[in-house]
Amino acid sequence: MIRKCLFPAAGYGTRFLPATKSMPKEMLPVVNKPLIQYGVEEAISAGLINMAIVTGRGKRSMEDHFDVSYELEHQIHGTDKEDYLQEIRNIMDSSTFSYTRQVEMKGLGHAILTGETLIGDEPFAVILADDLCLVDNGDDTVLAQMVKLYRQFRCSIVAVEEVPMDEVHKYGVIDGEMIRDDIYQINTMVEKPATEDAPSNLAIIGRYILTPDIFEILRNTTPGVGGEIQITDALLKQAQDGCVLAYKFKGKRFDCGSIAGFIDATNYCYKAFYSE
Ligand code: G1P
Repeated sequence: MIRKCLFPAAGYGTRFLPATKSMPKEMLPVVNKPLIQYGVEEAISAGLINMAIVTGRGKRSMEDHFDVSYELEHQIHGTDKEDYLQEIRNIMDSSTFSYTRQVEMKGLGHAILTGETLIGDEPFAVILADDLCLVDNGDDTVLAQMVKLYRQFRCSIVAVEEVPMDEVHKYGVIDGEMIRDDIYQINTMVEKPATEDAPSNLAIIGRYILTPDIFEILRNTTPGVGGEIQITDALLKQAQDGCVLAYKFKGKRFDCGSIAGFIDATNYCYKAFYSE
């Protein structure tokens, strides 16, 4: 079964400069929790216990976040402030963290291939932490919904949502044959198409389940849009040779890689989880 979740987290976060000059974008907090922690909690909710994080230079604070902080913990031991650390302690008790560095930024496909050393020969999930996905209380998280589907179909799955046609150029876009009202069997996918070239308005968002043959395909994938190795191109090959599904998930997704999406997520989370 799926045990590992890969977090490509080496990107520069240029859209958030200057905030991200010396701080990883994955550590930007939505209210009081960094984006990467929301992602890790979603992975745990889906039954995944091994977090595999592809980092880069200047990203060390992520590793420290998922580790004990002796001085801080000693200082607040026995006070009511200790409760603030309970969530992160629970994460550390229930999961493991391993890291590898992406030395050169050659695209999302390259980042995922860099993670092969942590994943090995088994199916795994990928979370792009700047896509924050939330569901109503008690509902399965987006990754948990996808893990359930994987049990049934045993092939790679991407999460998709409908976006306005004038935004398709920001995403990987799929088309395929509808096999259930919320599932498509993909027959084409294009990374960041111009509006007139987009096969549909079904955009891939940052949740994937991948079978391990993707690594060999990625090794043979030549750079695509932007001169980068694109996971979308590798998945198209996998779809042509076998089967890849697109799943219209249930829940809300915020593009926290953009300032507007980040502010929407902050307002939403504050209202939903923190305001009295
Ligand atoms: C990446 C993928 C793209 C996907 C998007 C989701 O693009 O390449 O296919 O739609 O994530 O967030 P990026 O946002 O890294 O440019």
